[in-house]
Amino acid sequence: MKRFGLKKVFSIAIIIAFLLGTNLMGDATAAGNRIFNDMPHTGNVFADMEKQIDYFKEDGDIRDDITVRSLKMHLSGVNLFQKQGQTDKVLKQMESFKRLLDNQKSNGAISGIAFDVLNTYTQYAIGKINGPFNSDNVMQHIKHLSVDIGPREAGSAAERAGAEYIESVLKSYGYETTIEEAPRSNRTELLLKVLSDNNKIIPLKAVSNAPQTTGDGITGNLYSAGTGQPGDFTSAASGKIALIQNGGITAGDKAKNAMAAGAIGVLIYDNQDRFTLPTVSLGTVRPNIPVGTITKKDGEAFVSQLSKGNVQVQLSIKTLTNQKTVNVIAVKKPKGVENPEIYYVGSHLDSVPFAPGANDNASGTSTLMELARIFKDYNGDKELRFAAFGGEELGFVGSKYHIGNLSQDEVKRTKVQFQMDMTGTAWVPASQLFINTVDGKTNLVTQSTHQAAEKLDINKNLLPVHMLSRSDHVPFHEKGVPSALFIWMEPGTPPGGANIEPYYHSLEDKIEHVSPERIQLTGDVVFKAISDLIGFQKNSSKNEVAPLKKAS
Ligand code: BES
Ligand code: ZN
Repeated sequence: MKRFGLKKVFSIAIIIAFLLGTNLMGDATAAGNRIFNDMPHTGNVFADMEKQIDYFKEDGDIRDDITVRSLKMHLSGVNLFQKQGQTDKVLKQMESFKRLLDNQKSNGAISGIAFDVLNTYTQYAIGKINGPFNSDNVMQHIKHLSVDIGPREAGSAAERAGAEYIESVLKSYGYETTIEEAPRSNRTELLLKVLSDNNKIIPLKAVSNAPQTTGDGITGNLYSAGTGQPGDFTSAASGKIALIQNGGITAGDKAKNAMAAGAIGVLIYDNQDRFTLPTVSLGTVRPNIPVGTITKKDGEAFVSQLSKGNVQVQLSIKTLTNQKTVNVIAVKKPKGVENPEIYYVGSHLDSVPFAPGANDNASGTSTLMELARIFKDYNGDKELRFAAFGGEELGFVGSKYHIGNLSQDEVKRTKVQFQMDMTGTAWVPASQLFINTVDGKTNLVTQSTHQAAEKLDINKNLLPVHMLSRSDHVPFHEKGVPSALFIWMEPGTPPGGANIEPYYHSLEDKIEHVSPERIQLTGDVVFKAISDLIGFQKNSSKNEVAPLKKAS
């Protein structure tokens, strides 16, 4: 009887586990689920924390209602102090909130991720009051770079515009600035402009083995051709650009059928919602008209516009030679000091084509700009350099070029490089700020950051040292400079691995998915680490707002 009972308990447990498992699987793919959850950010940090606490309770990261209640009780207290402008009390309350989180984590009442995320919000609230680093300024820079300018492919006019913006801001802080030009490989420039809709630019990907365009490309009206089967074309397709849904038949056959109907170009739109542009293969077909792909959303929007009237577009696909990617270097030299030690903060300003590059890497570049603003008042005996590199996405082209042009002596005098890359994803699971070295070992960057964290009372678990290359700290490391890459990733990411947000290198790498809270923590800890290394004392903790260039 007893054994049978146990068996029964086991099978029920298995059924429950199965149900839970499928439920979790379901959650992972549905919209608004935990995997694709971003940290709420409405501007009221305490309200955001309450909302996040509810989400954590829903997905089991917070064990029970008692825990929820004790967390929220604390927060409504702070919220009141905040409203009354009693900042000292807010700070005290936030410090005790951290103790509460410590306790709840050791009791198993909250998960590691809940602990990390709630700590980050807390640190944001504290940092905004206590420190000179102001993530609001960072968010404004991110907006300018990723929204007003947009994707900044190495060598493009947009990368140049980004560089000029960064330079003008750094110059306004009193730094000596230079724009360096590093040669890059030939680049395919893609353009899909909707002439009948305010010259709107639509993200486009070229399909290999189709010809490029010449001059300004081709201009024509779109023709909606279903999935591109022969029966989808009438004589009206002639002289137009065929708009074809992916799927059903091969891309090669779609192109062949479009050509046979006299189309002058082909746009294949995705039949699935995703963050990237679809890749299709022409097989053995070699069309003599250009073929590109666009997203499902953009394709369906065209179809719906076509049901109301003509849609005229310009399509251009061409390879450009003699391309240059650009670095912005801002330097602050100590007065009257010969051969000073050099301290670098780095980032990359380029993005992959068509990704707005809000987190990768307007976030790191804008963090660098805000650090530069605070350090503008430094007048110690070290040399500071802020370097936003171009061409990182091509394999560290800008940073290699920069380092390759340093003298032996400059390299020898370089003490550290802090690389800011993806410093603010809002994607909840990336709850820890990894300090990545090329060899996975600790160095002056990791040590100084850990000491800073201790002084700021930031839990060291939030800042694991990890082995990862993949950014501009690599060329510095190769020259023997202690360097590290700061990036938010999932706890437990294995050495060499990178468990990061799903928006990475996609059309969804937008400012909406950037967390000012995580940027604040990054800025606070890096500011403190560098300050202590160079002996900088900020006499005023007042948060000034940086002067900003108007959006162009
Ligand atoms: N920010 C990324 C690096 C990164 C990606 C760090 C994922 C951690 C997790 C960077 O901009 C990038 O994408 N680098 C390229 C480098 C390559 C071209 C040598 C990469 O990793 O693909
Ligand atoms: Zn990057």
